[in-house]
Amino acid sequence: MNDDRATPSSPSIDDRAKRAAHGSQPPAPPAPSCVMVIFGASGDLTRRKLVPALFNLRAGGLLPDEFVVLGVARQPLSDEEFRQRVSEDLTECDESKDPHCRDWILQRMFYLGGDVEQPEIYAQIQARIDELGKQFNTSKNVLYYLAVAPTLFAPVVTQLGASGLSAEEDGYWRRVVIEKPFGQDLASAQSLNREVGQVLKETQTYRIDHYLGKETVQNILAFRFGNGVFEPIWNRRYIDHVQITASETVGVEQRGGYYDRSGALRDMVPNHLFQLISLTAMEPPSSFDANAVRDEQTKVLRAINPFTPQEVLHDSVRGQYGAGVVKGQARAAYRNEPNVPPDSTTETFVALKLHVDNWRWADVPFYLRTGKSLPKRETTITIQFKRPPFLLFRDTPVEQFEPNRLVLHLQPDEGIALSFSAKIPGPQLRLGNVNMSFDYADYFGSAPSTGYERLLYDCMTGDATLFQRADMVEAGWSVVQPILDVWRALPPRDFPNYASGSWGPKDAVELMTRSGREWSDGGNVNDKPRKPAPAS
Ligand code: BG6
Repeated sequence: MNDDRATPSSPSIDDRAKRAAHGSQPPAPPAPSCVMVIFGASGDLTRRKLVPALFNLRAGGLLPDEFVVLGVARQPLSDEEFRQRVSEDLTECDESKDPHCRDWILQRMFYLGGDVEQPEIYAQIQARIDELGKQFNTSKNVLYYLAVAPTLFAPVVTQLGASGLSAEEDGYWRRVVIEKPFGQDLASAQSLNREVGQVLKETQTYRIDHYLGKETVQNILAFRFGNGVFEPIWNRRYIDHVQITASETVGVEQRGGYYDRSGALRDMVPNHLFQLISLTAMEPPSSFDANAVRDEQTKVLRAINPFTPQEVLHDSVRGQYGAGVVKGQARAAYRNEPNVPPDSTTETFVALKLHVDNWRWADVPFYLRTGKSLPKRETTITIQFKRPPFLLFRDTPVEQFEPNRLVLHLQPDEGIALSFSAKIPGPQLRLGNVNMSFDYADYFGSAPSTGYERLLYDCMTGDATLFQRADMVEAGWSVVQPILDVWRALPPRDFPNYASGSWGPKDAVELMTRSGREWSDGGNVNDKPRKPAPAS
């Protein structure tokens, strides 16, 4: 007899699904052997993200034995001193999978101190690459990671070219990872692309956006194109609007020097938030080949309606946090943060309404908001569907008649929730709003991750799908350039205009309410649905 019911001896459907999910793919092979040269090796990014990510990759069997790191930075350090630092960066790594991993990483850490703007150091880098490559039996593959100040991106790439260090010979690759921000505006991004393009082929250039390293961001593609049920309703016929929130509770912390020159718009929108829009709005690619996916993403960015100056005034909101309380802790105003001028007009919050002007999305607004010193840390994409005609449910007050919402929770909760209406028990036919949810950690468990593992692995294996192509970067800057122009011409007069711990300036709420919409605060993946009012 074929009985699908779960018994104590037979695994539940749930368990089988979990096992299938885990077991359906053979484990990925280790990356090809290489020397990894990290420029900016004594900086924060290397210490907090890259080194722990290398540890996690090795612990997961994804780094080959033939691998070695050469850290390069201005500070004079011996290999031993560098290792000592790296060892501090590894204290929180989980050694349960591989107790030798820490030593393995430390043995492979080497250091070269010097000024990367001076040509002389490149001959030394070449000598160390040759020597370490022999010692660790690596191939001639080299991955250069530019974890340096953005002003050094072009000079380092130029020197890599002039010294011959970027030349790919005998079938071996030389790839360069460039951190964000890639440019400060459209003109500077174009000029950086030109400088980089004079030295590197596009296939050697890996412009990183760490948002794409997040599993939940990658899952947008799997969710949209791996399921038959969503794609047919993923369009203007059924969707009322899309809203994307990336809110942070932190202020600028010690990054005032960088942040004050950047602001929330440059820092988050043309890169992270536009990646989310493009993955949400893109057409199905013809394959998961890097260029096929990025072609479709770029088309979305190019289809975003260019803002006129009037639209900038109407459809964009900027804010700067004042003093307040975040998660029970007093927070100073942005203008009182370290390295921030006391009369700064830099925005720490931005909200935008934009349109993706194509056949699928015409007339569907996309709302974005991001900011610092907000009440909650969360990144969510909410797809709000149109309301059904509600003639049938006359007894349900309109305010309780909520439209269906699909919320992709990207962080810190990771999962997907769909809200829908259900009958409230009782003699009358009344509706309440309930949630159906999937929690990543429940299903797949959680592996230690800094978010850089997959990206590093992909550079080494030569998969550029999760990296920004030159034209994508420029398409993103083209959209925000008119906003930058208008904002520069009209400095804000009301800053600070939101209290730390609030959801931003009141204009951001009005951006929604004037079209009868509201920001959804997303809710947590495991939130119980709001309890419907009892039947009377
Ligand atoms: C960075 C920004 O790119 O992304 C930061 O420069 C921001 O200002 C950060 O805090 C947010 O990333 P995450 O992964 O912490 O959400």
